[in-house]
Amino acid sequence: MEKYLLPTYNRTSVSFVKGDGIWLEAEDGSKYLDIGSGIAVNILGHCNRELVSALTDQAQELWHTSNLYRVTKQEKLAETLIFNTFADMAFFTNSGSEAIECAIKMARKFHSHNQDNRHEIISFDGSFHGRTFGAISTSNAQKIIEGFGPLLPGCKSIDLKDKDLIIDAITAKTAAVIIEPIQGEGGIKVIPDDSLQLLRNICDELGVLLIFDEVQCGLGRTGRLFAHEWTGIYPDIMTTAKGIGGGFPLGACLATHKAAEGMGIGSHGSTYGGNPLACAVGCEVLNQVLSKDFLPNVRKISGYFSQKLCGLVSNHPSVFQEVRGTGLMLGLKTRLKNQLVVDEAFKNGLLVIPASENVVRILPPLNITEAEVDLAIELLDKTAEGIKS
Ligand SMILES: Cc1ncc(COP(=O)(O)O)c(C=O)c1O
Repeated sequence: MEKYLLPTYNRTSVSFVKGDGIWLEAEDGSKYLDIGSGIAVNILGHCNRELVSALTDQAQELWHTSNLYRVTKQEKLAETLIFNTFADMAFFTNSGSEAIECAIKMARKFHSHNQDNRHEIISFDGSFHGRTFGAISTSNAQKIIEGFGPLLPGCKSIDLKDKDLIIDAITAKTAAVIIEPIQGEGGIKVIPDDSLQLLRNICDELGVLLIFDEVQCGLGRTGRLFAHEWTGIYPDIMTTAKGIGGGFPLGACLATHKAAEGMGIGSHGSTYGGNPLACAVGCEVLNQVLSKDFLPNVRKISGYFSQKLCGLVSNHPSVFQEVRGTGLMLGLKTRLKNQLVVDEAFKNGLLVIPASENVVRILPPLNITEAEVDLAIELLDKTAEGIKS
């Protein structure tokens, strides 16, 4: 009965009924190796036992009270995030886009609070920050913004490779600069450290807030809790979502005390954001991701995976061009239309996700094993052979 749904998605005609670890099972009983994780969401695999317990235990006790009252698990989740990041404060949301809205509002409010009334937001070509109005206003991709104008005033996307343009674009009128340290939808593009450093320096010099969008690249995906930790360059505001809920809708906007200083009582809100169910799951996700061996294992297995992918590219140069990315945020740039690879992989029982620039995204659960990587490589190899024949 798909006809009753708004036709905004070009869905594959499969419906999954069960998940277990890296595996998904379709209605007809066929099994799929899921190395897309519902677009970087199921970081602990499907139906992780401890996550199921955290959710069902909480469901027996209390689902929702609203933010009119204290929510103990929300406070605990905030404390864990604050203890492990640059941030001093958190606001919880139900999605990445809502976290982005909070970040944009916070940046503008900061400047109105400081009475310099700056409102401009600078973003970068190829970036994706979500589908709400604030989020699409930071994009210049026609397919995302077409027909929705006028967008939020004062938003401009520029080319990150053009240093002079960056220096010209960020001025004393700029409220914030927003960037994904690794572009996901844009085609798994790791932003070079010197570009992030340049942005940090300009923002510091001009009193502009720097926002990192780690909705896709954060929560352990690169082998550190957040991707920017590899660079030693820190934002004033950061958004996270996807992996933090492991499949339960949850996001957060994290900020320093200073960046958040305009956000007083009544300045922002959410009925559901950070409710007991979501935060019980979020606490358990962080419990696992921050356990002693978890992130070292992500670093180890990701080295193994990317090495195997490089081998795959050399074996099939007519299908694959290069391996992109870092940690378990990997991409295969294809020489043909990437959807062909996605479709052929699907026929072979493997789920991967397309991105811009003809890239096929590989975003497996972070607890993927070596045997599962080997199987994924085998299926990708079969996929390439299938395409060639
Ligand atoms: C980097 C980034 N920011 C924001 C979003 C929006 O998140 P959501 O779809 O949860 O609103 C996404 C979603 O893909 C994303 O990849």
